[in-house]
Amino acid sequence: MQKGKVDALLGIVFGDEGKGKVVDVFTPKYDVVARFAGGPNAGHTIIFEGKKFVLRSIPSGIFDEGKLNIIGNGCVVAPDLFMLEARELETAGYDLRSRLHISRRAHLILPTHRVLDRAYEAAKGKNKVGTTGKGIGPTYSEKAARTSLRVGDIGNNFLEKYNALKARHLQILSDMHFTDFDITDDEKRWMEGVEYMRSYQLTDTENELHQLLAEGKNILAEGAQGTLLDIDHGTYPFVSSSSTCTGGVCTGLGVSPKDIGEVFGIFKAYSTRVGAGPFPVELFDETGDRIREIGHEYGAVTGRNRRCGWLDLVALRYAININGVTQLIMMKGDVLDTFDTIRVCVAYEKDGVRTTSMPYDTEGWTAVYEDLPGWKTDLTAMTDKSQFPAALADYIRYIERAMGVPVTIVSVGPDRAQTVMM
Ligand code: IMP
Repeated sequence: MQKGKVDALLGIVFGDEGKGKVVDVFTPKYDVVARFAGGPNAGHTIIFEGKKFVLRSIPSGIFDEGKLNIIGNGCVVAPDLFMLEARELETAGYDLRSRLHISRRAHLILPTHRVLDRAYEAAKGKNKVGTTGKGIGPTYSEKAARTSLRVGDIGNNFLEKYNALKARHLQILSDMHFTDFDITDDEKRWMEGVEYMRSYQLTDTENELHQLLAEGKNILAEGAQGTLLDIDHGTYPFVSSSSTCTGGVCTGLGVSPKDIGEVFGIFKAYSTRVGAGPFPVELFDETGDRIREIGHEYGAVTGRNRRCGWLDLVALRYAININGVTQLIMMKGDVLDTFDTIRVCVAYEKDGVRTTSMPYDTEGWTAVYEDLPGWKTDLTAMTDKSQFPAALADYIRYIERAMGVPVTIVSVGPDRAQTVMM
């Protein structure tokens, strides 16, 4: 870690890699933790002092006194959900107001954005994305269309702007004949959330970050979702609507590429995906069910079953290149403890064509596997790499050789202590 740099910690597949836990392990080393993309579609589960928290919009450094947390300009914020999340932390005894700054340039998710999210999904029929329903797509669309409201608008003719935008949304919904909704309660809570947010430090976080970097502070950019859900580089259109990659750190925080230090790429020892879209390594058999059960692979936000499969090195290589990953972090190694054979996807195949590069559209491609021996050992009590069974050490070396990037951390359980430095 270099002083005066922004290190990025990114999920590099389909999200849900377990970033929350890693950030928790990393935060003591950083002065600032900043979210740069996404919003309440994220669900970072953190176990802190024996208590479980699911953070959605608030950065994971919030538990440490003296650390600054930033919700950056690239994020979208739903005031009502922010209030819910923040109050839970306040009740648990954490003083948020001194530790959290929210960018005035971040965009606001309105109650009607959530209705639009449902309406657009319904209109897509069988091609629906399977969104989290949090209004992410409609909000980012309006950001790009230059019609959205920003956090900074809260202090500035707010009601007038809100009502104008809401009226526009209601018109769109009426044009779509999407009438089965009632936002009365939602809107009341949302307005309450807006009032609540006023008591927070709504600042020009970009300028603050420049100052902090000049002072030699260390900043951790906490990713949300994953590279394959990135609006540009993911499996479009089955993606989220933000820039989830290293490039998004620059645009979503207002820092320059030369400010980026390490890029930590997090992946699981196997693959998962929530929502619709192509997934060449998906297992429809009992092995997939077994991975889901052992790994508790159910969505943190929606509770949906996650689709499961073996590790996909085609996707991983692509993500490493897109992000400039300098270190890999392998999560949930212990989930594979009981498997006799562990498969790794090394290429995709379609109509007799084989490729190791990520295709434009992964629909219809099937996975080509190599088989490696399972380690058949309980990893969960291991604290040092010298304790690792040979088959696990071989699995890690295999990934490192194929990817050309070192694996520097292996997680062997949900607890902070179950983290092995390599
Ligand atoms: P949206 O972000 O709610 O628009 O959802 C778009 C796609 O991204 C859907 O397939 C979601 O399931 C997926 N998605 C969004 N956030 C997350 C996340 O934090 N983890 C995993 N998948 C996510």
